[in-house]
Amino acid sequence: MKVSVVSRSGREVVKGGVELNDSATVADLQKEIHRRTKKFYPSRQRLTLPLQPGSKEKPIALNYKKSLESYTEGNSANLTVVFKDLGPQVSYRTLFFWEYLGPLILYPIFYFFPVYRYFGYAGERIIHPVQTYALYYWCFHYFKRIMETFFVHRFSHATSPVSNVFRNCAYYWSFGSYIAYYVNHPLYTPVSDLQMKIGFAFGVLCQVSNFYCHILLRNLRSPDGNGGYQIPRGFLFNIVTCANYTTEIYQWLGFNIATQTIAGYVFLVVAAFIMTNWALAKHRRLKKLFDGKEGRPRYPRRWVILPPFL
Ligand SMILES: NC(=O)c1ccc[n+]([C@@H]2O[C@H](COP(=O)([O-])OP(=O)(O)OC[C@H]3O[C@@H](n4cnc5c(N)ncnc54)[C@H](OP(=O)(O)O)[C@@H]3O)[C@@H](O)[C@H]2O)c1
Repeated sequence: MKVSVVSRSGREVVKGGVELNDSATVADLQKEIHRRTKKFYPSRQRLTLPLQPGSKEKPIALNYKKSLESYTEGNSANLTVVFKDLGPQVSYRTLFFWEYLGPLILYPIFYFFPVYRYFGYAGERIIHPVQTYALYYWCFHYFKRIMETFFVHRFSHATSPVSNVFRNCAYYWSFGSYIAYYVNHPLYTPVSDLQMKIGFAFGVLCQVSNFYCHILLRNLRSPDGNGGYQIPRGFLFNIVTCANYTTEIYQWLGFNIATQTIAGYVFLVVAAFIMTNWALAKHRRLKKLFDGKEGRPRYPRRWVILPPFL
């Protein structure tokens, strides 16, 4: 089989095309493109079928596990695929590790070191118990996320663009510093003892629930990440599609009840907004996958993230 590899403007990406045997898969084609171009390793490549001129349809991305023949529509001698360079990639584990490492290191700096001197506060700093518990809570949260990244999540997408490392680190590192600055501030006013206890107790309960949600998600896939998207079931997944985001949002609410800063609440609102958008997209995807047709089950959940709001 001869495969012509062209860019979106129609320029040949691999001179003279690629010759492969008839049983070759999309992954074989990607390896061959890499061998011939040197620069474009498989996860950098996005291969799609060409669209008819003027078509408004979305191009179909080729699945690396499928045979090339399944995309030929009868003419198995020739195939044209459109190549897009996704740019330099990093693994999801690398991306998550760097974005979570920032808050894990930056937050304790504000607690342990005399940084406030550089902001004009020369007097003695009294550390309230709530500030110490907040440090433990915060560090436990980001340590848990790093551990989950390496030992719990079974990612389906192998890589993400390198640019996302900078974008995500900017988000987590700056919000981490912003919250740490105010919670550890020498002029910080603690909330009542009861409010602190309620906030942290609720937050810890939600963090443990969040961990359990991640275990349930993990069990939807085989250890090599295969299995696609399944209907999450059990615990809060019996009520909402994204119980992992619900528990994540509520655990930040617990932290904010206990520490009560504007910075913390700003982060809660931004994070809840981001996770709500992702949850809506995940809910739509599961409803599309499990539509009740041709023997497929119908997706059973009505609520997305936080009943009774969404
Ligand atoms: N503070 C914030 O702004 C913020 C924002 C987002 C996330 N978070 C936190 O970070 C955690 C990770 O978030 P995430 O969005 O990367 O991942 P996620 O949606 O929580 O999913 C975790 C893992 O489970 C898999 N998964 C999800 N739904 C599945 C299904 N229906 N069937 C099979 N596998 C499924 C995912 O696969 P894929 O690899 O295919 O996605 C991923 O590998 C969240 O749960 C949350 O605690 C925080």
